[in-house]
Amino acid sequence: METILNISDLSKTYQSAGRSLTVLEQINFSITAGSTNAIVGPSGSGKTTLLGLCAGLDRSSTGTVELNNINLGRLSEDQRAQVRNQYVGFIFQNFQLLPTLTALENVMVPLELRGEKNCKARATELLDKVGLADRGHHYPAQLSGGEQQRVSIARAFSNRPKLLFADEPTGNLDAETSEKVVKLLFDLNKDAGTTLVLITHDLELAAKTQRILRIKGGRLIADEKNN
Ligand SMILES: Nc1ncnc2c1ncn2[C@@H]1O[C@H](COP(=O)(O)OP(=O)(O)OP(=O)(O)O)[C@@H](O)[C@H]1O
Ligand SMILES: [Mg+2]
Repeated sequence: METILNISDLSKTYQSAGRSLTVLEQINFSITAGSTNAIVGPSGSGKTTLLGLCAGLDRSSTGTVELNNINLGRLSEDQRAQVRNQYVGFIFQNFQLLPTLTALENVMVPLELRGEKNCKARATELLDKVGLADRGHHYPAQLSGGEQQRVSIARAFSNRPKLLFADEPTGNLDAETSEKVVKLLFDLNKDAGTTLVLITHDLELAAKTQRILRIKGGRLIADEKNN
C-alpha cells in the first residue's frame, strides 16, 4: 500500500523566555494513502504541534517529514506552501480565516492560488455543503464560532486535497451539524480517496476511523487499529 505521509524521529523544541521546552519527542509513524486516522491525547500533549509539522506549516527540530514522497525539510517556506496548496487541506483548531475577506472569499483563496476557473461557483457550492449558502457575504467576525469552523472546513475541501488534516473539526459544533460535517469528511474519503488525519477528543468520531494514534507528553504511546 502506498504511503502518503512518513514521519521519522520527529521532535520539536520551542524556545521561549530563554527556556527550551520539548513538546514532541522521537515520533515515528506512516500513514497509508486513502486511510482514515485519528490522533487523540490530553490537552497540551502536542497534537496540534504534530499536525502542523506533518502539514509543513512549521519545521521540526529533528527528524523528517515526507509528504507524498517529498522531504519537507529540504524545502523553503514558499516551496512548502506550494506543496500544501497542491496536496493538503487543513482545518485549524482556531479556524484561521482571513478577517478582511468574506466567508465566500476565504473559501476562494486556495482556488485562486491554484489559478482555477469558476472559483466563485465552486466556493458557493462548498459553502452550501456546509449549510452556509446564505452567509457568503459575512466577514468572520460576523459569524458564530461553529459557522467559522464550517467555513474553514469548506476552504480545506476546496482544492480537493489528497491529504486532509483536521484539528478538532467538530469541536465547536452542535450534535446535528457535527454529524453533517463528519459525513462530509468521510464521504470525501470514500468518494475522492482523500486521506484523513483528524485530531479529536470525541471518542465516537475517533472510533469511526481505521486507526488511532495516542499521544501523551509529546510521545506516541499507542498505535491501534479499529475494526
Ligand atoms: N509557540 C510555542 N512556544 C512555546 N510553547 C508552545 C508553543 N506552541 C505550543 N506550545 C506548547 O506545546 C505544548 C503542546 O501544544 P499543542 O498545541 O500541540 O497541544 P495539543 O495537544 O494540541 O492540546 P489541545 O488538546 O489543548 O489543543 C503545550 O504545552 C504548549 O504550551
Ligand atoms: Mg490542539
